[in-house]
Amino acid sequence: LAGKCPFGGNTIGGAQTSRPTLQDWYPDRLRVEQLHTDGPQADPLRDFDYRSAFEALDLDELKADIKRFLTTSVSWWPSDYGNYAPQMIRMAWHSAGTYRIADGRGGAGQALQRFAPISSWWDNGNTDKSRRLLWPIKKKYGNALSWADLMILTGNCALEIMGFPTTGFAGGRRDSYEADDRTYWGPEWINNMHPDAQDDMVARDQRWTGEPGSSDYELQQPLAASHSSIIYVNPEGPLGDGDPAASAVDIRITFGRMAMNDEETVALIAGGHAFGKSHGQVSTDRIGPPPEIAPMEAMGLGWHNPEGSGNAEHTMTNGIEGSWTQNPTQWDNSYLENLFGHEWVQTRSPAGALQWMPADADAPTTPDAHLEGVEHPLMMMTSDIALKVDPVYREICERFLADFDYFTQEFSKAWHKLTHRDMGPKSRYLGPEVAQEDFIWQDPLPAWEHAVVGEAEIARLAQAVRDTGLSTSDLAFTAFSSAATFRGTDKRGGANGARIALEPQRDWAVNARTVPVVARLREVTDAFNAAGEATVSLADVIVLAGCVAIEDAAAAGGTEVSVPFTPGRVDARQDQTDVTQFQWLAPVVDGFRNYVMPEFSSVSTLAPEEMALDRAALLGLTAPEWVVLTAGLRVLGCNHDGSDEGVFTDRVGVLSTDFLDALTSTDLEWAKADDAGTTFTLQHRDGGGTAFRATRNDLVFGSNAQLRAVAEVYAASDAHDRFVADFVAVWDKVMMSDRYDVTAG
Ligand code: HEM
Repeated sequence: LAGKCPFGGNTIGGAQTSRPTLQDWYPDRLRVEQLHTDGPQADPLRDFDYRSAFEALDLDELKADIKRFLTTSVSWWPSDYGNYAPQMIRMAWHSAGTYRIADGRGGAGQALQRFAPISSWWDNGNTDKSRRLLWPIKKKYGNALSWADLMILTGNCALEIMGFPTTGFAGGRRDSYEADDRTYWGPEWINNMHPDAQDDMVARDQRWTGEPGSSDYELQQPLAASHSSIIYVNPEGPLGDGDPAASAVDIRITFGRMAMNDEETVALIAGGHAFGKSHGQVSTDRIGPPPEIAPMEAMGLGWHNPEGSGNAEHTMTNGIEGSWTQNPTQWDNSYLENLFGHEWVQTRSPAGALQWMPADADAPTTPDAHLEGVEHPLMMMTSDIALKVDPVYREICERFLADFDYFTQEFSKAWHKLTHRDMGPKSRYLGPEVAQEDFIWQDPLPAWEHAVVGEAEIARLAQAVRDTGLSTSDLAFTAFSSAATFRGTDKRGGANGARIALEPQRDWAVNARTVPVVARLREVTDAFNAAGEATVSLADVIVLAGCVAIEDAAAAGGTEVSVPFTPGRVDARQDQTDVTQFQWLAPVVDGFRNYVMPEFSSVSTLAPEEMALDRAALLGLTAPEWVVLTAGLRVLGCNHDGSDEGVFTDRVGVLSTDFLDALTSTDLEWAKADDAGTTFTLQHRDGGGTAFRATRNDLVFGSNAQLRAVAEVYAASDAHDRFVADFVAVWDKVMMSDRYDVTAG
């Protein structure tokens, strides 16, 4: 073999990631490793202090640069009407518009429009050009300006140069540096295609139940888009068949999933479509592949258009062609005036898409975006006509038509909500243009108005908690429950605010156990505050009580630990809590508290542990943290209903590795306790009878290879102290997850 290439004579068929991959072999396996995607390793700016860098920017200079850029056309992608503003508004709207309230995923926060699948959805056609056009600005301001912030700020600047008053801008969005492979975007395996080319019926059958308009018409959770590869709804109507009434039904459901009410929805659509145009000059089957699978020399740009210059008057984006107004670069009320001032009839674009034009021949026209002196009929999409035919939308439109200032104000507020909805508490907002006003969708908290309790007071409070006689289990359960709503996706939930004491959280079945405990801890809080020496919040006392419980439980297991407690939480008022929007934070499955929504098996095809993994991901846990936290909560007796499932110990309330010992024990064997395999019994192999009972959210830590590998580490004979230390660390992480007031989140 000397001198011969080791590969010589063979075909080379595989390298890292070549298919088949593990996922191809076992598509239904629980992908625990997904907890570690989007980690610091992928982030070249992991040590970068973005907050300080952004705060040091000269926002006025930056905005002036953006506004200059918007009206300076470049030859490789000339602007429509000499103004990039409309296309930048669409880019910003699509960036924010992926947000969904069910799990807080999507949204503008991490600039995920740069990555597949979002980058390559049909609906994001030519947003690749919008971002590339912005590169000189991004390059100039560098890492002090994230893509995520730049895209939204550009949307604001675009609105402003067209005469629209924005409600403010907050920076603080940190970019992601890899594709998001965790988010469930729908069941269809038909990416990147124009909706017309997809098998609509197949797609809708999987994503929707019931017939449009019927009472059982439902969109699968947690989805918010009506259709694969679309941001919200198909502009040509649900089945591409141009039915405006059916379109209105889809719009209401999908915008509702974006947390928008009817008025906000109308304001956004009518406001957005006051600007720009749709592009539909070329048949979809002539358009090249999307960015993710475009040829290398396209350098990340997709949808090559072979017609003429491929841009300007030849541009092909969605397939519908035309503009809604006579002056598409001016904020005015002509969108609604046109919608209501004319009868509209169906027609088709040059690309073949279904759209609408005025029935009356003498209706005003709109200028060509590039060709001097050329005029076109006005255009509406089926989803625009929907606003006229739906009685509720119609009434809102009429109000907006009659009062342009009111419309302007409502669109401005809705745009602000759309683009900031996923940023979490206002303490994360950066820059000089942060709106003064608090909005209910920000889950506002009262201002902090007193000194934070010091060490001596904390010690007194800890003693007062112990004096209540409440059990370690109850205290730990309540503290965990108060923090467990947190989700890193849109930074909602968490212990701050003590919203566990408010509607709707206090009424959730999973929280029933907390009600008397919170009441008792409120007495502790009130008594402490009545003494007048210092002031503490209920939110802090709930968390402190949990810390006390963990210290006592560890001590009972023979380990003295100090559980960190960082005071400074405040108590939200009921009127600062949007009950409907908080209801979305109710868990479907919470493996930590061994909770599965009673109707889960009838409404879901998923196994509970898949939802438990999702919850662990929303809490931002790693696999070891997930294992340790669950193992600790089990031996502390933290099941939501006080049941013994998964409580593999005879010394409940002692922080031990007993759960993991039983889980990994070769002396026990497991059997299904019901046909469906949702509960189990653990029997002694030697015939000693039933040792324990368990759920899927217990046994998954022994059956899944990755979780078992971690469980073995902590079940090992030398791991007790490591287990306690790691439990305390993850406990503190969860308690602190929403403390953006003290961490640089
Ligand atoms: C353009 C659909 C809501 C802002 C478009 C286009 C479509 C569309 C198909 C044409 C894209 C192209 O071919 O270039 C829809 C649907 C909506 C919706 C179905 C919801 C029912 C919104 C919202 C906003 C918005 C909420 C912003 C607040 C715009 C703008 C353009 C546009 C500014 C013009 C882009 C340009 O001139 O390049 N929309 N849209 N749209 N949309 Fe929407």
